[in-house]
Amino acid sequence: MQILPLSEIPSPRYKLETAERIFFEASSKKTFSSDEEREAFRRRYFTVYADRDPEWFLLALDDSDQVLGYLAGTPSTREDHLSLNPYLEGFRSVIGEFPAHLHINFCQVARGLGLGSRLLEDFESRLKAHSVTGVHLVTGAKERNVGFYARNGYSEASRLRIGASELVFLGKRL
Ligand SMILES: CC(C)(COP(=O)(O)OP(=O)(O)OC[C@H]1O[C@@H](n2cnc3c(N)ncnc32)[C@H](O)[C@@H]1OP(=O)(O)O)[C@@H](O)C(=O)NCCC(=O)NCCS
Repeated sequence: MQILPLSEIPSPRYKLETAERIFFEASSKKTFSSDEEREAFRRRYFTVYADRDPEWFLLALDDSDQVLGYLAGTPSTREDHLSLNPYLEGFRSVIGEFPAHLHINFCQVARGLGLGSRLLEDFESRLKAHSVTGVHLVTGAKERNVGFYARNGYSEASRLRIGASELVFLGKRL
């Protein structure tokens, strides 16, 4: 597997389209009440990273240069992220300790092979090289991926109940 930032890919459009298909396929939200709602969802979890932090948007490619997965990240959680993600407001007090954040998804056939761990490690190495001291992500408390993050050194720093669902803020010091 080769890992390349979006910013280093000369014509990224096709690869970005593949990553976007992986994003929607991996998402637990499958229906949208309008095109506007779908677009807001895409912007919040995908486009804002590709547009504003392309050097932190990492693509995982196979030997034929096909996209297997991606990590959309940022070294610093900014006010624009907070305004796009209303739930992040509830985690504001812990964000300072873990300023970077990420979203990671792989296509179905590439899961469970250790590739996600490799992509995560690559992102963390890049953060350390930029003297970033902590990273976080938010997921559902009951999601299977919680085990994946725990094995990669992430632990719960905060928890938030929103309606029937419970979100966990998982942080790692770098
Ligand atoms: C989570 C994910 C990025 C991990 O990458 P990976 O290459 O599969 O991970 P690894 O092979 O290094 O580790 C395997 C672990 O990944 C997680 N995982 C594997 N398939 C998964 C799936 N379909 N859904 C959620 N988590 C999954 C599990 O924790 C698994 O451990 P387990 O088999 O003991 O339950 C990848 O599985 C994935 O894209 N899953 C679906 C979308 C998702 O949950 N993204 C994270 C959103 S916060």
